[in-house]
Amino acid sequence: MNAGTLIAAYRAAGQGQVFAFWDSLNPAERAELAAQAAEIDLAEIAHLSRTLVLKSAGATGVSLDGLSPAPCEHLPENGGEAARWAAAKATGEAALRAGRVAAFTVAGGQGTRLGYDGPKGTFAVTPLKKKSLFQVFAEKIRSAGLRHGKPLHWFIMTSHANHERTEQFFAEHRFFGLDKARVHFFRQGRMPAVDFAGRILLETKSSLALSPDGHGGSLRALHRSGALDLMQSEGVDTISYFQVDNPLVRCVDAAFIGFHLQARAGMSSKMVPKAYPEERVGLFCRQNGKVVVVEYSDMPLVMQRETNPDGTLRYGAGSIAIHVIDREFARRMAAPAVAKAMAGSSSPAKSGTGEAVFGIPALPFHRADKKIATIDCAGRPVKPENANGVKFEMFVFDALPFADNSVVIETARADDFSPVKNAEGVDSPSTARDDQLRQAARWLRAAGAAVEADATGRPKCGLEISPLFGYDAGSFAERWHSLPIKPVVAEGLYLE
Ligand code: UTP
Repeated sequence: MNAGTLIAAYRAAGQGQVFAFWDSLNPAERAELAAQAAEIDLAEIAHLSRTLVLKSAGATGVSLDGLSPAPCEHLPENGGEAARWAAAKATGEAALRAGRVAAFTVAGGQGTRLGYDGPKGTFAVTPLKKKSLFQVFAEKIRSAGLRHGKPLHWFIMTSHANHERTEQFFAEHRFFGLDKARVHFFRQGRMPAVDFAGRILLETKSSLALSPDGHGGSLRALHRSGALDLMQSEGVDTISYFQVDNPLVRCVDAAFIGFHLQARAGMSSKMVPKAYPEERVGLFCRQNGKVVVVEYSDMPLVMQRETNPDGTLRYGAGSIAIHVIDREFARRMAAPAVAKAMAGSSSPAKSGTGEAVFGIPALPFHRADKKIATIDCAGRPVKPENANGVKFEMFVFDALPFADNSVVIETARADDFSPVKNAEGVDSPSTARDDQLRQAARWLRAAGAAVEADATGRPKCGLEISPLFGYDAGSFAERWHSLPIKPVVAEGLYLE
């Protein structure tokens, strides 16, 4: 599309402000702005503005009709059947041995709460060796490959902002011992931010205020980047999805994969029991026969506090953003974006509501009110103190109700979830470090070593275990017992 047609289309859509400084731009700046503007689906933005922005903030319209708790596979220690878990693990291990599973990290977030200048995956997170999040995952993925005699493919979704730095980090660290031909990076999509009247914001005179389209954008991006086709040609049909901010995550968990495969599920999830009724986590529920995640903010407090006869919380299954996704289910969920691209931007843009586009299900967008760096009408930079606009994001768990089958399994928080979200306080580098220390102390103790710890289980000395030494309590104990001379724990210990 030439610039004249593009500008006319923007004016017709009431978005002419995007080109307010066009006459003052040099050719390179004009090319930059035109390229970004051409990326935007104006019909989609109009739809989202109408349905999400021009109605009042916070009016989510989430229906709680017919809601019940989602059924869940409980851990054997919490009432689940040990034989079922053993069978699921065997199924998952067979899939790993057959090379059917790929690891998938979503690492395209902006990490604003952490406030770290760099891709979050490069953040140093382990207690002693200060390994980065990416290194921790690389070692877990390498360990799984060695264990099952089949190296895994690892797909990493980046953003436009952090893609180059992410690739560079892996190159500098020689892919942490992984085969670089099996590590694949691709960028996620972007969406423009709008003001509270639905007008697209400029970041500079020649660029839009663009931001990543949410972790739900991963399904489109997997498809658009060719990752799904690559998986298919490599015999991978099962995707182990996790977030970049969680150093405790088991990047590939055989039992989880096994439960998912046995159920022929489209997408499955791990849950942890909520720590307390008001904990701010999404909750796995069932609605119209499908698994859904309801945000804590959409559930009335009385429901959040409801209990079962045994005193446990009725809506107690907290979402921790760990999923297994069937490759073809991901392709099906990505299809509306592709269909729209093929039909051009005049197509019915209904993806903002989760309605079907061309009869195909689509993820809805959500509204997030944010401080957005922009410019004023004279072109001067504005750094707002309060939210001045809206970003649009998709959430990956919104895909769950589109899955014909969906399994939810319980996991122990201490062995799977300790995210680094904030610079300080809850879910911060210090809580993640303490949780890693506690895990090392637990594994050592379970293997028979004496470890001095405080009342919370935090050891008095520094401990760190590489996933290449042990990936869970059982494998750790095996390796520990095979050591002819046991190292002294009391002075601190790194095991690799
Ligand atoms: P968060 O919801 O914690 O967002 O992402 P964030 O952008 O990383 O951090 P804040 O809110 O700005 O502080 C959860 C996971 O989803 C990924 C993140 O990289 C993280 O692994 N994510 C999030 C994406 O990959 N893309 C996105 O657009 C958003």
